[in-house]
Amino acid sequence: MSRRPIIAGNWKMNLTVAEGLALASGVRDRCNRFRGIDVVVGPAAMALHPIIKRLDGSAIGVAAQNCHWADKGAYTGELSPVQLAEVGCTHVIIGHSERRTLFGETDENVGKKARALHDHGLIPIICIGETLAEREAGATIDVVRRQLDAAIAPLEGDELARSVVAYEPVWAIGTGKTATPEQAQEVHAAIRGRLAEAAGKDVAEQVRIQYGGSVKPTNIRALMAQPDIDGALVGGASLDSDSFARIVSFKEDAD
Ligand code: PGA
Repeated sequence: MSRRPIIAGNWKMNLTVAEGLALASGVRDRCNRFRGIDVVVGPAAMALHPIIKRLDGSAIGVAAQNCHWADKGAYTGELSPVQLAEVGCTHVIIGHSERRTLFGETDENVGKKARALHDHGLIPIICIGETLAEREAGATIDVVRRQLDAAIAPLEGDELARSVVAYEPVWAIGTGKTATPEQAQEVHAAIRGRLAEAAGKDVAEQVRIQYGGSVKPTNIRALMAQPDIDGALVGGASLDSDSFARIVSFKEDAD
């Protein structure tokens, strides 16, 4: 089956609101004309609302970079799916390795967040991936399975089908070291196999699995040529509208 590609930018803790608005306008001007592909930007929290307003009327989605699972409450510094849905977010990145490593994100919490996001009509981008030590120990598949299982356990099949999984080997994030297309495909195929075991082949075939980790205009085509790679979660190269647009337009660039 052919899955609609999805390219998302993860801006992380970069850009002021003014800079983010300029980048969002650049992305809209360069990317809105591409059909047959989902394009999503992921600004810092305080820029979500103005950027959503700026992108109003375009087909570009907007992702938050994290959320809490509760609707509201005494959780200083957190944002709830209710709040993110109200301002018009379409997606939320959860379980990013930086949140797992630096901020204590657990497998179980990622599952709670995925559940809460679907309760409020938001699409989770569920990040999973092994560290270099885990890869060298031969534990890659075990690690991504464990992370995936916990994230999807609370979801119904139709919710899972609408979810996005991002495979991001931690050793490839921000390092300029991309997994080879074959290395990425091997893990993507294992992820899809696990999704099929958990929810059936039909559902597994619908889930879009992004690759993330030093994706650039120069390597996107080879990655996207793999059968189980359905898009990319892009950090550094999403901070420039020109390089992001060249990634989004990977098909056109092929001509
Ligand atoms: P990178 O980041 O593209 O800068 O490697 C990817 C990510 O962390 O999502």
